[in-house]
Amino acid sequence: MTNAPLTVLVVGATGSIGRLVVAESIARGHTTRALVRDAGTARHRLPAEAQLAVGDVTRPETLPQALAGVDAVVLTLGSHGGAHSSPENVDYAGVRNVLAALSGQRPRIVLMTAIGVTARGSAYDHLLDWKRRSERLVRASGLPYTIVRPGWFDMNAPDERRPVFLQGDTRRSGSPSDGVIAREDIAQVLVQALTAPEAVTRTFELVAEHGPAPRDLGPLFAALEQDAPGALDAVRDEDNMPLSQEPQRVRDDLDAVRALAGA
Ligand SMILES: NC(=O)c1ccc[n+]([C@@H]2O[C@H](COP(=O)([O-])OP(=O)(O)OC[C@H]3O[C@@H](n4cnc5c(N)ncnc54)[C@H](OP(=O)(O)O)[C@@H]3O)[C@@H](O)[C@H]2O)c1
Repeated sequence: MTNAPLTVLVVGATGSIGRLVVAESIARGHTTRALVRDAGTARHRLPAEAQLAVGDVTRPETLPQALAGVDAVVLTLGSHGGAHSSPENVDYAGVRNVLAALSGQRPRIVLMTAIGVTARGSAYDHLLDWKRRSERLVRASGLPYTIVRPGWFDMNAPDERRPVFLQGDTRRSGSPSDGVIAREDIAQVLVQALTAPEAVTRTFELVAEHGPAPRDLGPLFAALEQDAPGALDAVRDEDNMPLSQEPQRVRDDLDAVRALAGA
């Protein structure tokens, strides 16, 4: 793992995971910028060392300033429901808008989605399909990325702190039996991925099992298979979302992000 301090933007910084990512990023010595919609509220919720960048991922014009000069972006967005905060507008188009606003910068991207994101035909399709499409945009971007799909937050027993990385997204019941993990441990993984060369081009599910948290996640990252070059889905994902059946606007977004990658 390299230790050079980075300038990191956290998108979703005031959320239950984002706040811990901000704190962990600061603890590791990175200059840490938080994208926030309301600076007044955020100032009370985030450490004093966090820089605040006011922006809204559904308003693309607010993003270039927040992204200026960053080495890395961690995205832990969560939509709240309603017309302006739908999974399509926030979890998906928010990621699209951040990628589009990079204008030639090539930061490391760490995207958090969810375990079971490749399930189809469940009660969570309206959310998971959009999160999966956000993953596809990140893969198509050509940027160095890591995609982390955590299990159910904070439903772990106190001694379940040993992270386990899985691939293939085969646990798709939509319940905590798919896997659980402490929020703090998710933040550790997201921030350590920023500086682990072995984490690049990897997508994995993240759960915890009995045992203590290791100090260095490098060996866990290194044991993962990389995603195939040019593939939309993660290595070993089920091929159950054919591009030909995707909405035209989603295909257009993929073309646009690929064009940015080639620019
Ligand atoms: N709960 C689980 O067990 C579980 C497991 C796996 C995955 N997940 C997924 O994890 C995600 C994040 O979880 P969380 O608990 O951290 O969510 P959260 O506490 O709801 O935080 C969501 C973050 O997104 C930000 N956000 C929302 N709309 C935005 C916009 N238009 N522009 C900029 N920022 C915006 C929020 O900002 P504001 O503070 O301004 O609203 C907040 O910082 C969720 O999508 C969830 O589906 C959950």
